Amino acid sequence: MKLLVTGGAGFIGSEFVRLAVGEGHQVLNLDKLTYAGNLENLEPVRDQPGHRFVRGDICDAALVDALLTESRPDAIVHFAAESHVDRSILSPQPFVDTNVKGTFTLLEAARARRLDRFLHVSTDEVYGSLEPPIEADEDSPLRPSSPYAASKAGADLLALSYFATYRLPVLVTRASNNYGPYQFPEKLVPLMITNALAGRPLPVYGDGRQVRDWLYVEDHCQALLALLEKGRDGEIYNIGGNCALENLEVVRRILASAGRGQELIEHVTDRPGHDRRYALSSAKLLRETGWEPRVGFEAGLERTIAWYRANRGWVEHVRSGEYLGYYERNYSCREVELARLAGPSTP
Ligand code: NAD
Ligand code: DAU
Repeated sequence: MKLLVTGGAGFIGSEFVRLAVGEGHQVLNLDKLTYAGNLENLEPVRDQPGHRFVRGDICDAALVDALLTESRPDAIVHFAAESHVDRSILSPQPFVDTNVKGTFTLLEAARARRLDRFLHVSTDEVYGSLEPPIEADEDSPLRPSSPYAASKAGADLLALSYFATYRLPVLVTRASNNYGPYQFPEKLVPLMITNALAGRPLPVYGDGRQVRDWLYVEDHCQALLALLEKGRDGEIYNIGGNCALENLEVVRRILASAGRGQELIEHVTDRPGHDRRYALSSAKLLRETGWEPRVGFEAGLERTIAWYRANRGWVEHVRSGEYLGYYERNYSCREVELARLAGPSTP
């Protein structure tokens, strides 16, 4: 297939690009290269004739239109987003701009064209926190808690409306927490791995008993490739890792694998609006495509830690001025920043 991939220089998008090009698809990769976009993630496909990179913003309607006219893709696979919850708490504006307006721009540009697929990549965070033993299926209510999750829920609804109204062949996928190589070290797993390897403290929000369902990034991208082929227009598909763990357990396993002591764990002030538990049923995806996650957490974590050990240069480039500024704001000045965000207290 000819694919227009957005956000293909980020963590999941670049994994998808590497896999898709390896399978013989032709990829036009549109990415703004924000702090999270990194051309080093695309080194393995740099000289492949099946891959072309364009630096640009999905909110730029003229650019998106020109790329669709020129490349006439069979499908759009839309990853581009502001993706980190803590940043959405500190500065929500870019989340509305890219996640809502950017998705709208792509949908508008795609509306008048013959595409086989518009695959909108979304998240289980739109379902919000769930009490055990509830698992979200695709009909569960949307209860986003963070500006990030709300912007993704808004984009999901817009995308689905373009199927209902204009018959644009939209698919929406909602995946659980991804981990694996090339993940920007602001998310739990790579942040804890890079801190553990460097002997720095591991900041755990609140009591650390929050539950997430871990999905190895390659498994996620294999599910997306299967859905490009077999998914039904206008449908939503959950993609879970079938591996629910408390954050503290994840952090303890990382410390053990990195050969560091548990005393590096540091409990810090909780994230505002922190969702306690995510849980997904992926029964529909299994029924319709036969997809199941293949990489268990233990094997996936070992592979991931080995990758961060072997790619210290990548880590050093990424831990640049921007990252250090964010780290300072979210961790070193956490109390002050969170108090400021909460606004004046009521008398
Ligand atoms: P990421 O932050 O690693 O990468 C995002 C990419 O989008 C970057 O390359 C960035 O440069 C690009 N981008 C941002 N704004 C852009 C714009 N306006 N125009 C063009 N490009 C832009 O994100 P990720 O973790 O790889 O997530 C990819 C997608 O998957 C997102 O839509 C996210 O909501 C979704 N998702 C992520 C997870 C997860 O655990 N990381 C889980 C489920 C769903
Ligand atoms: O569930 C899918 C979502 O997973 C994606 O849509 C998001 O793009 C992705 O960022 C991720 O969101 P989370 O908020 O779940 O991921 P994060 O890695 O930020 O945090 C995972 C858990 O770890 C969460 O309960 C908060 C906690 N945490 C995180 C960080 C960064 C800590 O305790 N300390 C930390 O320093």
